[in-house]
Amino acid sequence: MNQATKKYANYIPIRELAAIESQLSPFNVYDEMREQTPVRYDENRKCWDIFRYEDVQYVLKNPKLFSSQRNRANESMLTTDPPKHKQLRDLVNQAFTPRAIEALAPRIQEIADDLLAPHLATGQIQMVHDLATPLPVIVIAELIGVPSSDRERFKEWSDIQVKGAKNDSDEAFQELMVEKAKNHEELSSYFMNIMEQRRVLPEDDLISLLLAAEIDGQKLTDKEIVGFCILLLAAGNETTTNLITNAVRILAEQPQLQQQLREHPEMIQTAVEETLRYYPPIVAIGRVAKETVELGGQTIQAGDQVISWVGSANRDEQKFANADSFIPDRKPNQHMGFGFGIHFCLGAPLARLEGRVVLQTLLSHMDQIQLVPNTPLQPIQSAFVFGVKEYPVTFTP
Ligand code: HEM
Repeated sequence: MNQATKKYANYIPIRELAAIESQLSPFNVYDEMREQTPVRYDENRKCWDIFRYEDVQYVLKNPKLFSSQRNRANESMLTTDPPKHKQLRDLVNQAFTPRAIEALAPRIQEIADDLLAPHLATGQIQMVHDLATPLPVIVIAELIGVPSSDRERFKEWSDIQVKGAKNDSDEAFQELMVEKAKNHEELSSYFMNIMEQRRVLPEDDLISLLLAAEIDGQKLTDKEIVGFCILLLAAGNETTTNLITNAVRILAEQPQLQQQLREHPEMIQTAVEETLRYYPPIVAIGRVAKETVELGGQTIQAGDQVISWVGSANRDEQKFANADSFIPDRKPNQHMGFGFGIHFCLGAPLARLEGRVVLQTLLSHMDQIQLVPNTPLQPIQSAFVFGVKEYPVTFTP
């Protein structure tokens, strides 16, 4: 696969989603695709697009047919297949059990309170900038074991990890790749350094835990530990930012939910889950076909790129009754916002916890949350991410 092919599948939206309005709300387009071309090849982007729940699930649950390996320079758990994938995942899993994560609740609450405090009396907040961006970065930094004195530098590195190209040109794309490679090197040596310190003097943090982790005599290599820490920044920060912002956007768009959730706080966790279905931070997941596969009456050839539109699967009426309604206590809710199968989001317990704490906190301090009138929303420029660049709201304290 050449650079250009890679670039198009990852960065260029499908033609029907090019308009800003469709990026802000792609769901009608998804409906049309599920109806008319549920499995289709896009000549422009050189990849297959899969839109129905059942087909998306089929792709994600068959890693033997659909590989996660995408010729990436930065090899990680996300881009490995079995058996290597299982070995990596089992080793780091110990740090991400629901119980280990739940223990972080009081600290996440504190971080949320601190970030909100300066804004509460003003009745206005830039949701993305003031809360949804810093919160997950601080949480992950503390989890990994980044000293607070390095927090600013750490945030800059995190931002570059998930940055998109300035524009669609090949030059901008190449420039971004160079910047990311340099960033990756800087982050690697930074984490290597912390790792050396923890090897001598372990602390109560993820790096120390990963250094000690062992299954059947197998340990993670230094390179794998560092690679995993970098993966967490890329996989956990922008996604959680968008979960928080998308949840607030739903509250502002459907204001009756605010009172409903305040009266039924037990619904907040299921409302977070419904946010992941209704406005998922990740709408598409890439794979590469390893064999020739028949799907939806089409023949996918070995080597073809396959994009699974979980954002569309999540609105499939065949799976979800009233799929276009936000139902805060929807049960069951087998959305694919965290993916499906062996690569199912490792950070799901953490993302769910952050979502719950933030919603509880917002609803207990803010009444009548509204988008600042006449704010033109700007979609995040990525084919795979669903979110807005900023979401300023007013509220009654
Ligand atoms: C994997 C979504 C938060 C770490 C995934 C996948 C999705 C996803 C869709 C599957 C990708 C694939 O199949 O190729 C999300 C969303 C989040 C979120 C929507 C926030 C709302 C986090 C957080 C962390 C994290 C907070 C870590 C702190 C990971 C890792 C993987 C992953 C390590 C790879 C798992 C594997 O390959 O086995 N995530 N994620 N994610 N996520 Fe998340």
